[in-house]
Amino acid sequence: MLVGVLASGGGSILEAVLGAGVPAEVVLVDRPCPATDVAAAHGVPAVLVARESFGPSFDRVAYTERLVDELQAREVELVVMAGFMTVLEKPIFDAYGGRVLNTHPALLPSFRGAHAVRQAIEAGVKVTGCTVHVATLEVDEGPILAQEAVAVRPDDTEATLHERIKVVERRLLPATVHAIIERGTVLP
Ligand code: GRF
Repeated sequence: MLVGVLASGGGSILEAVLGAGVPAEVVLVDRPCPATDVAAAHGVPAVLVARESFGPSFDRVAYTERLVDELQAREVELVVMAGFMTVLEKPIFDAYGGRVLNTHPALLPSFRGAHAVRQAIEAGVKVTGCTVHVATLEVDEGPILAQEAVAVRPDDTEATLHERIKVVERRLLPATVHAIIERGTVLP
């Protein structure tokens, strides 16, 4: 199963995925970011598919088509979003429906969206965590593949809690991808 990984940020989840021996054909990033260096350090080609805009003029469908073209050019069969911060549109689910994975820093279906860790703190929950799931057109929905809880400490900030959640994501996402590659199907 040829794997393509999408990333946007610091790349620590990407580092964990590649460091765990997930065989990636390519890493695609949506903006200049350290994830590119992480890919290079593992000898995986990194391609910048740059967003032309972060404002209301952003053409999400056209952007998604460009991304799908890059994945298909490398015959990617499984797409892993490892901290990818652009919400993708229908073309990727037409091309890769049921074969796009995402890791989210909360116990879905709680705290969907880009500010899941902050929302967990604001809600005063004592337990949050992370979820690896199959991505669908509806953001942060789709079948749940793996989840693990992380306790919220009274003195946690968004940063400290997010870092403890990421420690778990760095284990759970690679393990889930390895299991999928071994059995040859996304859903158990
Ligand atoms: C992770 O918590 C991921 O779930 C979220 O962004 C974070 C990525 O972290 N979408 P990093 O850039 O890989 O360190």
